[in-house]
Amino acid sequence: MAWRFALCAGGLSYLLLVGNGGAENADFDPRANPPPNPDLVQRGAFVFLDPRLSPPADRACATCHPGGGSDGKLYRAGEPVAPGTPGARRTPSLRGAGESSPYFWDGSAEGLRGAVERMLRIEMRGASPPGYDVDALEAYVRSLPRFDRGRVRPNGTPTEPVRLSARRGLDVFRSSGCVDCHPPPAYLDRRSHDVGTGGRYDTPTLRGVGEMKTLGHDGRWKSLAEAVDAMLISAGVSLSPEQRQQLLDYLALL
Ligand code: HEC
Ligand code: HEC
Repeated sequence: MAWRFALCAGGLSYLLLVGNGGAENADFDPRANPPPNPDLVQRGAFVFLDPRLSPPADRACATCHPGGGSDGKLYRAGEPVAPGTPGARRTPSLRGAGESSPYFWDGSAEGLRGAVERMLRIEMRGASPPGYDVDALEAYVRSLPRFDRGRVRPNGTPTEPVRLSARRGLDVFRSSGCVDCHPPPAYLDRRSHDVGTGGRYDTPTLRGVGEMKTLGHDGRWKSLAEAVDAMLISAGVSLSPEQRQQLLDYLALL
């Protein structure tokens, strides 16, 4: 049953991408990002779930990226590691990956193809599928629509009904400078910055950030509030408790 579901989900993602992308998203340029071939996307959804791909046959892409998202766990070279281990990296969600290059927390892969190839080599323990299946994995990942609860418009303004606090949170998000590095609609700027976490890291999307159990490149933050407090310190902004809550309420809409 699982694979049938994946095939449907792959097809659906494709429809969502084609259906939503054009009108609402100013970033979306159909010439730069032609819609992926639906047969490849379906094949990719299948390969993504297949543990036989990795030589020890003990893991699929979906083990760490369930549903194309993130398991919220930390790994180093494909091995699970405890928080605080040097070199630990939290699995990023692949939702919206088509618009989030460069890839990896250190931004070391320019293109999605290179990112998928590294995953096959390291995280998937030297998996070497035929080229068609690598194309399929790439097309599937590219087809995953960005996480979207439908609670904010592409310009970041909340849709109704929304609590007043969350609406005010957008003003705080703007006035605190969050928007400089996390601009809507994807809430990332495709650049790396040093925000006081021990180096330069690729700005992550804030889409779906309220769902994350671990935040930061190495899982250093255990809650959204902890991450936001660290970002405020890095930005040199101090907020009243009320404004801080408004900011958190806004982020929970994304
Ligand atoms: C063992 C867990 C694990 C497996 C299995 C795994 N990944 Fe990953 N994936 C990660 C981690 C951890 C990162 C972040 C690595 C980093 O930034 O250094 C990542 C990053 C990525 C990225 C870059 C995303 C971004 O926005 O930076 C892509 C694309 C990706 N994985 C696709 C795949 C594909 C396709 C497969 C199967 C071929 C796969 N992954 C298998 C854990 C895994
Ligand atoms: C100078 C650019 C910059 C600014 C300004 C900025 N951020 Fe970030 N943000 C980043 C980077 C880079 C990271 C990743 C840091 C890391 O993981 O080490 C990050 C990470 C985060 C995370 C964790 C996301 C995750 O998936 O782990 C949250 C939440 C966040 N920022 C919210 C905010 C908020 C709220 C503001 C405004 C107060 C803000 N950021 C301002 C660049 C910025």
